[in-house]
Amino acid sequence: MMNNKASLLATIFMLTAVYACNNVEFGQGKRLYERFCADCHMVDATGVADLYPTLLGRNTLENFKDIPCIIRSGIDDTTTAVKMLGFPQLTDVQINNIVNYMVRDLLSSDKQLHLPETKELLLECPVKKTYDFN
Ligand code: HEC
Repeated sequence: MMNNKASLLATIFMLTAVYACNNVEFGQGKRLYERFCADCHMVDATGVADLYPTLLGRNTLENFKDIPCIIRSGIDDTTTAVKMLGFPQLTDVQINNIVNYMVRDLLSSDKQLHLPETKELLLECPVKKTYDFN
């Protein structure tokens, strides 16, 4: 039987472990965002003038639902001079984590896009896998 001090420490340890686990996915989303997106859209997602759009315009979870396909397939919206290439190497889970990092930490929302929904959205991406610059 553990004494009180030991069991208190064990409880704190377990709570810390659970808390850390809950945050891992957004930690991964943050790392992936900084590695794959921030060069163009900036760490704070404010973008670069007319070249790289800000990602801060979305203000509801619904507005984030086009992002999984944009990450996977890229986007060629003719109103800007530059196209965005897709990232076909990122898995569904990684894409889900990037989107949720954006929702949580950039939008300061406690909502999230759940993996099954992200997977469904990804099934409906344009057939053409990536755009290229030619
Ligand atoms: C090499 C530069 C570059 C990188 C890296 C990049 N993007 Fe983009 N992104 C662009 C450009 C340029 C556009 C605008 C393309 C267009 O509209 O034709 C864009 C557009 C977007 C849009 C649509 C903007 C809007 O509000 O309609 C989203 C969302 C987006 N990017 C998310 C991301 C995410 C998430 C990542 C990282 C996985 C990423 N981008 C990486 C250049 C980049």
